Amino acid sequence: MRILITGANRGLGLALSKIGAERGHQIISGVRDLQKSEESLTHSEIYKSISLLPLDVTDEESVSSAANTVKENFGTIDAIINNAGVLLERDKQIEELDLDQVKVTFDVNFFGPIRVVKHFLPLLMMGDRSSIINISSEAGSMANAYGGDYAYASSKTALNMFTLQLSQYVKNNNINVYSVHPGWIKTDMGGERAPGNPIDTAKGIFDIIEGKQEISDDNVFITYEGQPMPL
Ligand SMILES: NC(=O)c1ccc[n+]([C@@H]2O[C@H](COP(=O)([O-])OP(=O)(O)OC[C@H]3O[C@@H](n4cnc5c(N)ncnc54)[C@H](OP(=O)(O)O)[C@@H]3O)[C@@H](O)[C@H]2O)c1
Repeated sequence: MRILITGANRGLGLALSKIGAERGHQIISGVRDLQKSEESLTHSEIYKSISLLPLDVTDEESVSSAANTVKENFGTIDAIINNAGVLLERDKQIEELDLDQVKVTFDVNFFGPIRVVKHFLPLLMMGDRSSIINISSEAGSMANAYGGDYAYASSKTALNMFTLQLSQYVKNNNINVYSVHPGWIKTDMGGERAPGNPIDTAKGIFDIIEGKQEISDDNVFITYEGQPMPL
């Protein structure tokens, strides 16, 4: 399969690129900084099969031009993994909240996937069994809402609604759309204390894309192991 991954130069995106390449998929790794990413993504033979694609999800021009590049070079894709994300203003009380940082959070975590799907969906529509994976978070669950996370939690709740809206739109086109909670994992965002490993999460996400996980039809918010999450 040919798979686009955003935010692919570090953290979960890097793990997804590696596992995808190891499983023989053609990986298109969307990155903001090509030079920085070459070191992390193409350092060994197997990762030579990864194509680096300049892609800033907050810039619609960048997303549109990335989609044109992929169309010219590859024609179609089989999956999109909207992975790029930021965690800002956590544990800030409402009185101290920096609204500009809240806007940045929504720009990356919510508008980012919308821009990517807007421009890449035509390439996916031409494929057969396709998927769109929006990397969400348990933080976005309305049922399990906790305090002190205005920006990030709200952006992931909005992302889950985008997943629901989109899944309705493409339900007759053989495209599976999921919001996936990756677990609390050791990355720059998750920190050193996180119990999970991004490689295990990446394997679970590829099992979902490859159709190896049993997921009941009415679940759109799931864990990386395919278990339902409360919206
Ligand atoms: N880690 C966890 O425990 C955890 C838990 C739940 C959900 N998640 C979700 O999992 C996803 C991956 O997180 P992570 O832990 O791997 O985070 P991370 O280590 O902080 O990596 C974030 C990635 O997003 C990219 N990015 C940020 N802004 C971008 C933009 N405007 N355009 C394109 N790429 C951009 C970064 O690129 P640069 O290097 O260029 O900044 C980086 O590659 C996120 O959606 C996050 O919300 C993570």
